[in-house]
Amino acid sequence: MIEIAPSILSADFNRLGEQIAMVEGAGASLLHVDVMDGRFVPNITVGLPVVKAISRATRLPIDAHLMIVEPGRYAEQFVVAGAQMVSIHVEADQHVHRTLTAIRAAGAQAGVAINPATPLSALDEALKVADYVLLMSVNPGFGGQEFIPASLDKVRRLRKMIDERGFRARIEIDGGIDRDNVADVAGAGAEIIVSGSAIFGAPDPAVALRELREATVLWV
Ligand code: DX5
Ligand code: ZN
Repeated sequence: MIEIAPSILSADFNRLGEQIAMVEGAGASLLHVDVMDGRFVPNITVGLPVVKAISRATRLPIDAHLMIVEPGRYAEQFVVAGAQMVSIHVEADQHVHRTLTAIRAAGAQAGVAINPATPLSALDEALKVADYVLLMSVNPGFGGQEFIPASLDKVRRLRKMIDERGFRARIEIDGGIDRDNVADVAGAGAEIIVSGSAIFGAPDPAVALRELREATVLWV
């Protein structure tokens, strides 16, 4: 099943509750929350208090994408704050196995995220303890960037790697997804599709979300 996860990074923070209710009503499956620390990525966004507030405002599961150094120091706290999915970057953690295991033990799904220039081989061992892989299709840090075309083949190769080795990890794709490429990434094997600016930057986010869903209907 394809799940569309609107990224609140491109939402209007002045009326965040309203915007979340809008995408919830329009059929979003998850809510993607980008946590940035100004160190792992050159931008600072939101943290634990915002995740906590959002979790009280929506029934949608929260998918926290931690773009922070040493994510092991905070990952469990994001679960306590209300995130049902927490992903950490393989480039940011020296103890990926430990952190993924701790996220699971805290009761959430554990995701391992990789940057565009990080090879899939970096996931080799982590796949055994990951519930999902978050493949970045832009360099993390900002919404509204252009999809890196080589990401499509990376999704296909990851799909093959997961299927051949009998793992159950789902593939999440994040960055530059819009109505023109959403069907391609779904066809390549992505199951969770993050979209920020294509939804919240549209005149009507609910319509934009439905268009993305309709474009992936073949893979539902
Ligand atoms: C980028 C973030 C993305 C971002 C996607 O670092 O991880 O989740 O919000 O936004 P769009 O869909 O605009 O590329
Ligand atoms: Zn993200």
